[in-house]
Amino acid sequence: MTTIAVTGASGFCGSHVAATAAARGADVLCVGRRPGPVGRHVPWDAAREVPDLSGADLVVHCAAAVGDPVPGRPAEAAMHAVNVDGTARLLEAAAGRPVVWVSSASVYAPGPGRTRITEDRPVRGHLNAYGRTKAAGERLALAAGAVVLRPRAVYGAGDPHLVPRLLSRVRRGLLMLPGPSVRLSLTAVENLTDACLMAAGWPPGAYNIADPAPYERDEAVRTVLRAHGVRARLGHIPLPLAWAVAGAAQTLARPRPLAQPRLTRYAVDQLAHSVVLDVSRAEAQGWVAGRTLEDYATALLSG
Ligand SMILES: NC(=O)c1ccc[n+]([C@@H]2O[C@H](COP(=O)([O-])OP(=O)(O)OC[C@H]3O[C@@H](n4cnc5c(N)ncnc54)[C@H](OP(=O)(O)O)[C@@H]3O)[C@@H](O)[C@H]2O)c1
Repeated sequence: MTTIAVTGASGFCGSHVAATAAARGADVLCVGRRPGPVGRHVPWDAAREVPDLSGADLVVHCAAAVGDPVPGRPAEAAMHAVNVDGTARLLEAAAGRPVVWVSSASVYAPGPGRTRITEDRPVRGHLNAYGRTKAAGERLALAAGAVVLRPRAVYGAGDPHLVPRLLSRVRRGLLMLPGPSVRLSLTAVENLTDACLMAAGWPPGAYNIADPAPYERDEAVRTVLRAHGVRARLGHIPLPLAWAVAGAAQTLARPRPLAQPRLTRYAVDQLAHSVVLDVSRAEAQGWVAGRTLEDYATALLSG
């Protein structure tokens, strides 16, 4: 039986990876500060120590400090300790075992021109500590010969980030979005999970991971609202105004260095510019993205 060490198994994506690995017959070690949904818990604080990976045949690294905090040193240092130094500690412990390192499409350079992103797009110009530290962490992973997966905007059961944030922005039946609708790649957590559990045998390098086709932003948002039983109209803020408001919100939040401003330039960039991932490199390895946002909505509406 294969033994898979899953970091971040107490979190959203990692818990799906751990549970699916166990359901497919693997022995699972959940390596992190809190236990995962299955398997044996191996305590590890990525910001402090080298994990004990004894017994593991391969490692799926989902743990990360995530979020979109106020720019500045405290947030940068906290994220660096987990996403960069924690990665170095993990790679040291892996000692040659295959590592699948879950990165993010947030590593790609922001701005317009992301209508078909291949893995060769420059990784630079990040708008927040998350993008910067994920990019630095994946550089270490790539140098160590890991397989690096770059999903974008992961959704699914148990998501504590994307959909809750979206729903919390509805005010009096109105949800304001920056600029006109664009095309966006999203990643069903089931599609990411499949990739995580297949990728250990792929040639080392970076792979985009997303649903089979991109979505029209406004249509996808309406699908999510409908699936959650939220009645709301969509409104559109002109992009320059959204950019200025986000800048002001970040400035006002500076006295609380670990706070997450309600609107940030990173969020505006992610919502207002097309971001479409080309997933042909992962597909060439036999990975197929079978799940879509419609499946998610149907499951919620029928459950
Ligand atoms: N969700 C998305 O939209 C998305 C998109 C692209 C990429 N990703 C990537 O997918 C991965 C999983 O993200 P997620 O959405 O599942 O986030 P999540 O639900 O917030 O889970 C993060 C996990 O990392 C663990 N972690 C954080 N700090 C740690 C530390 N110091 N030591 C050990 N473990 C620590 C957390 O453990 P605790 O329970 O101890 O806090 C948790 O298990 C991340 O690498 C993220 O960058 C996510």
